Amino acid sequence: MVIDKFSSFRGELSVPGDKSISHRAVMFGSLAQGDTRIRHFLTGADCLSTIGCFRAMGIDIEQNEDEVIVHGKGIHGLSAPAKTLDVGNSGTTIRLLSGILAGQAFDSMITGDASICRRPMKRIISPLLSMHADVRSKRGNNCAPLVIHGRTLSGIHYQSPVASAQVKSCVLLAGMYADSPVSVTEPVLSRNHTEIMLKALGAEISSEGTTVTIQPDPVLTAGEILVPGDISSAAYFIAAALLTPGSELLLRNVGTNPTRYGFLRVCEAMGASIERMNETSVGEPSCDLLIRSGSLHCTEIGGVLIPTLIDELPMIAVMACFAEGTTVIRDAKELRVKESDRISVMSENLRKMGAEIEETEDGMIIHGGKPLKGTVVDSHLDHRIAMSLAVAGGLCEGPLSIRGAECVNISYPGFFEDLKRLNI
Ligand code: S3P
Repeated sequence: MVIDKFSSFRGELSVPGDKSISHRAVMFGSLAQGDTRIRHFLTGADCLSTIGCFRAMGIDIEQNEDEVIVHGKGIHGLSAPAKTLDVGNSGTTIRLLSGILAGQAFDSMITGDASICRRPMKRIISPLLSMHADVRSKRGNNCAPLVIHGRTLSGIHYQSPVASAQVKSCVLLAGMYADSPVSVTEPVLSRNHTEIMLKALGAEISSEGTTVTIQPDPVLTAGEILVPGDISSAAYFIAAALLTPGSELLLRNVGTNPTRYGFLRVCEAMGASIERMNETSVGEPSCDLLIRSGSLHCTEIGGVLIPTLIDELPMIAVMACFAEGTTVIRDAKELRVKESDRISVMSENLRKMGAEIEETEDGMIIHGGKPLKGTVVDSHLDHRIAMSLAVAGGLCEGPLSIRGAECVNISYPGFFEDLKRLNI
């Protein structure tokens, strides 16, 4: 994919449905009694992998463009898959589904693509073993494939060493199959979509500070789920409009759950003008965002803010290159174990374009204001890297070639079409 310099961003965009919420809607809809209608479902490859896994366990799922109907069978209604479950590139699918599989009355094996098979699974294997689950890494390396012998689990209070919604959700979902309540305490609160949706479907689940507790054996009742637009997908267009002179862009129906909207806070801290309009809250909060271009300055990002913008940090790194002053990102070691090592891959690609970036163990120090120029960069087949680089390509001098750009299909199938349509 070759990206030329942007002209200006104008018009309106309804960004695709939230990836985290779409995954959960299919999973919890499958475990609910009755039919769950999901509107504005994200039809990206990751969420299609989740649909594939639940179909393989006997759940009938209809899909019509971005509307999905899940014919749920209750928390004990899944059947043994005939083959190894394949999550593709999706970390959310493998980690959440492993919690569910640990409590089933059947055995299963779950795996994914090369990136998934490199990602750390000890973070879910450890708490599941403490619940007396029978889960092991097939190759003994704490990575996928995972072999799971389903059984009744024991309740625990798990003190998670990482702020990870995937770990928290895995343990809570396993908790539905435990013999007593299960609690998870995180060092910093991560996204709470699991808590919100399970509660709406009828589970007894409560939060206090960074601790969540679930009561076992809930009856989940199917309902209608409206998925808000994904703020992580909106971030690329917010950044592009902010940094392309003469832009005015309206983004419709963007999810603004406080555990996810750190990117907006950072934009504002960098001096951006973002107007929020038409705020609503149907299960999850959302609003329209009006973005006008303007100049940005440096900021410092760390601590409790990190989990609320973890997936937007590659985009923020690009923005920092075009901002005045030195931006510091710290406490973001988790970036090293995403679809790629996002600290090293972003630093390497942006440096190749002329940026001045120091890589640290848990973040980046970015000296803004150096002119970036087009060259050949590589996504490392990481969708968020590809989209962040595409925005960098439209802001730099000369065309930028992105290798492996097709991986945007993981979370945003029409990304390049939308980028082209709004750049006028
Ligand atoms: C997600 C949680 C985050 C995030 C990922 C989606 C989720 O991962 O980076 O893209 O849907 O729960 P971690 O739980 O590893 O922080």
